[in-house]
Amino acid sequence: MFHISTASSPHRDIATVVEKYGYIPLQPPLGIDLFAEIERLKKEKNAILLAHYYQDADIQDIADFVGDSLGLSQRAAETDADIILFAGVHFMAETAKILNPNKKVLIPDLNAGCSLSDSCPPDEFAAFKLKYPDYKVVSYINTSAAIKAMSDIIVTSSNAVPIVKALPSDWKIIFAPDRNLGMYVMKKTGREMVLWNGVCMVHTIFSYQKIKALREQYADAELIAHPECEPAILEQADFIGSTTALLNYVVKSPVKRFIVATEAGILHQMRKAAPEKELVQAPAEYSCSCNTCPHMKLNTLEKIYNTLLYEMPEVTLDSATIEAARRPIERMLEMSKELGLVSKS
Ligand code: 13P
Ligand code: SF4
Repeated sequence: MFHISTASSPHRDIATVVEKYGYIPLQPPLGIDLFAEIERLKKEKNAILLAHYYQDADIQDIADFVGDSLGLSQRAAETDADIILFAGVHFMAETAKILNPNKKVLIPDLNAGCSLSDSCPPDEFAAFKLKYPDYKVVSYINTSAAIKAMSDIIVTSSNAVPIVKALPSDWKIIFAPDRNLGMYVMKKTGREMVLWNGVCMVHTIFSYQKIKALREQYADAELIAHPECEPAILEQADFIGSTTALLNYVVKSPVKRFIVATEAGILHQMRKAAPEKELVQAPAEYSCSCNTCPHMKLNTLEKIYNTLLYEMPEVTLDSATIEAARRPIERMLEMSKELGLVSKS
């Protein structure tokens, strides 16, 4: 954390620093209660703080809404706040901006990207799409605005299966960018799709052998997994679903012990909602804490405080991209409503 004197740092200087670092490297005044100050700033500025389940526990606790990608985009679409502060990664904040072009959308750290989104560069995808001229594009929400602008409909991990099932049967489909979710959707819907070869750096590291050994150690445990995991893990899983679906499953299931194959941040809500359940993190292939997403974890309470105070960094997009990317996202929101898929925190 850098130390810049706020007294000599008007907004222009902060903007220069944000341009350089992607966030505000300022130490909040010593001794302030960050939780109380963030609450005060949210009220003063009519700002809403949206947080993904993969955020640190303290960020989840101060958020106005915690959810999965579908729930967050549904909440972003309906908010009447003047400012949306997105504690998540860049593609999530971009989605909020596309749905709210006239609102200020802030993100604590512009460097919070996504390996999955990065695995699908727009120029390479445009060339790939040219090879399948009569195909429609179904894109996972974990993509840049430029990819969304080239898509016919967006899906998330909670609605990909029912949406693909409901799409016109004569649609030939390219699915991008997550190949694991794509394979899972093909298996569940029986529809053939051309897959982009992208993966999430967090969900591909779980070890088949170590999970198998854990299941032998805890014979009473169920394995629950996010569909971004590799097929070998999904084949072993007792339940597969988005972060919200995994949370709901742990709460409602009579089972007492779960091995959880997704990013570790979700355990916070699981422990809050079902303190009596025992949760075991699925082990990674190597001895590391690789099941925490380094992009999600760039956000901190300090950065959230600075972002609200200075209203920077802001997520901006050109109007042509917003226009082109909005239609496929709105289509997803409409279809989700029709299919009764309203994700709640
Ligand atoms: P969901 O929010 O749809 O569960 O997806 C998890 C994820 O990888 C977000 O980046
Ligand atoms: Fe992207 Fe994976 Fe991190 Fe989600 S967990 S933001 S898909 S890198």
